[in-house]
Amino acid sequence: MEDDRILRPELDGFSEEKLETSLRPRFLSEYIGQSKVKENMKIYIEAAKKRNEPLDHVLLYGPPGLGKTTLANIISNEMNSNIKITSGPAIEKAGDLAALLTNLQEFDVLFIDEIHRLNKNVEEILYPALEDFTLDIIIGKGPTAKSIRIDLPKFTLIGATTKAGTLSTPLRDRFGIVDRLELYNVEDLSFIVKRSAKILGIGIDNESAIEIARRSRGTPRIANRLLKRVRDYAAVLGDGDIDLKVTKTALNRLEIDEMGLDEIDRKLLDVMISKYAGRPVGIDTLATTIGEEVETLEDVYEPYLIQIGFISRTIRGRIPLPAAYEHLGYPVQQSL
Ligand SMILES: Nc1ncnc2c1ncn2[C@@H]1O[C@H](COP(=O)(O)OP(=O)(O)OP(=O)(O)O)[C@@H](O)[C@H]1O
Ligand SMILES: [Mg+2]
Repeated sequence: MEDDRILRPELDGFSEEKLETSLRPRFLSEYIGQSKVKENMKIYIEAAKKRNEPLDHVLLYGPPGLGKTTLANIISNEMNSNIKITSGPAIEKAGDLAALLTNLQEFDVLFIDEIHRLNKNVEEILYPALEDFTLDIIIGKGPTAKSIRIDLPKFTLIGATTKAGTLSTPLRDRFGIVDRLELYNVEDLSFIVKRSAKILGIGIDNESAIEIARRSRGTPRIANRLLKRVRDYAAVLGDGDIDLKVTKTALNRLEIDEMGLDEIDRKLLDVMISKYAGRPVGIDTLATTIGEEVETLEDVYEPYLIQIGFISRTIRGRIPLPAAYEHLGYPVQQSL
């Protein structure tokens, strides 16, 4: 059922993709939050334009739904260049990448989503392309094989990944600009909700925007999704405009709690508090206990629970913090 996935930050199908395209900010000035990344990017872009050079290669990393694809598009708009979009798994053979590269124009942006999923052979073609804008290809086989070098137009690669840790060092080192996107705070998310509401022609008051923001796990994609669902409730239960009452009703019916936690978050916290009595637990043990993938816990659940101060990562494992005890209605452990 779709509702089970309402708080998952990954993109949920084609209709959501269409919605996102319409809500995507097009310029840095419209990009809300991430002030550090934005400030840096502004300077790099201006400097590159002054030198009349393409922007250095950019690596964007961070959890899903925080605006990596959005930012890649913004960078190409701000540089007045074209963007070609592909992804790690879509480039199967070295020849696929060679074709992409030789078709680029000077100053183009090549956006490779999920760049950690590029295969090794393809990755090796990329190194000289990034460093010297050249492509080495081997023609023929055996003793008559010849290596020829092709010059490429000067381009900018933007790579996006949710897992910077799994990128190989030689690839990572070839990015001049490496930016990590952070989960958004409630204030920034409420601006995003209001901005999206305006674009979609939905009336919403400030309190409701904040309420949606609070339950969106620091993630713009989830905020936009919840806005859409609350709008449906407003249309049926009220006059179409979103107020706090309809917002709370809708979000409660969707079983999203006051902190934006879903069943799995609560199960995770509950296990940490009751089964392991608040002692440090390893992520593998936790994953096995609640029957989830380690990766999902690390990429999706943990970042948000850490951000809101519900769990903490120690060298000996994860521990629940007092706010988590309180939220789940357990007496707070004095020893903590
Ligand atoms: N800073 C922002 N300001 C306003 N809206 C934003 C911002 N960042 C993201 N959004 C909204 O959130 C949606 C999701 O962002 P985006 O697709 O760029 O995320 P992503 O990081 O590429 O996710 P994934 O890892 O799944 O590819 C966008 O359609 C956009 O509407
Ligand atoms: Mg994306």
